[in-house]
Amino acid sequence: MIAISDTDRVFVLTGAGVSAESGIPTFRDAGGLWRNYRFEEVASPEAWRRDPALVWEFYSMRRRVASQAKPNPAHLALARLEHRLRDRLFLCTQNVDDLHEQAGSQQVMHMHGELFKSRCDTCRRPPFPDTHVYEPPAQLPRCECSGQIRPHICWFGEVPFHLDRISRALQEATVFLAIGTSGVVEPAASFAAAMGSQARTIYVGPEPPANKSSFSETYFAKAGEILPTLLEG
Ligand code: OAD
Repeated sequence: MIAISDTDRVFVLTGAGVSAESGIPTFRDAGGLWRNYRFEEVASPEAWRRDPALVWEFYSMRRRVASQAKPNPAHLALARLEHRLRDRLFLCTQNVDDLHEQAGSQQVMHMHGELFKSRCDTCRRPPFPDTHVYEPPAQLPRCECSGQIRPHICWFGEVPFHLDRISRALQEATVFLAIGTSGVVEPAASFAAAMGSQARTIYVGPEPPANKSSFSETYFAKAGEILPTLLEG
């Protein structure tokens, strides 16, 4: 069990692995999304300029998959942890699905954006909820300003969201817990190494991440199977 004291501040970083047992494919495992798609063609500003229909097809497919998914015991355990720790828990996810919210987590920092939101690629209209699935040859969605509506996702080459709040929370944390992330995509891959000596750094997932040397404790198991026990005994 991971000991959390009454004064600990816990920073949780989740990756695709936390949603794997809910049926959402990861990116880099066998059968992962980046084995079947080239991210340069579907998840970059260049891809958007070159072929927005292909980009929308990719995110529509992901919306279809995610809309069928239900939270697993790992999401539920993290929601209960928030209930226990309140503002001493900071939940930061690289995932764009809404399974943490479905599980009951109230404060979720989506650093790579949200699958069920869109925004205009031209004007400053704020991101808005959007579950629409694009079926070619349907017209691509347009904003009132005539800009194109794009997924509210941080693509490769773009700056992740909420970095100020994330950086403050990292400085305050005494426990850093990464779950189901391969530790290759920056800046999240460097969070554990940036923790310094004030924090314990813990990894949970079935195999060692690329940044495993940044962790002081590791639990090699599926998140849905081990996290409830690790967090609640
Ligand atoms: P990856 O696909 O790179 O890594 C998934 C990790 O989850 C691997 O380390 C697996 O071992 C682990 N895993 C698999 N099943 C698991 C389970 N049941 N329980 C726990 N862990 C499990 O996904 P991320 O590290 O999240 O970015 O990828 C980071 C970013 O790269 C994504 O947010 C996405 C991607 O390109 C953007 O699209 C901007």
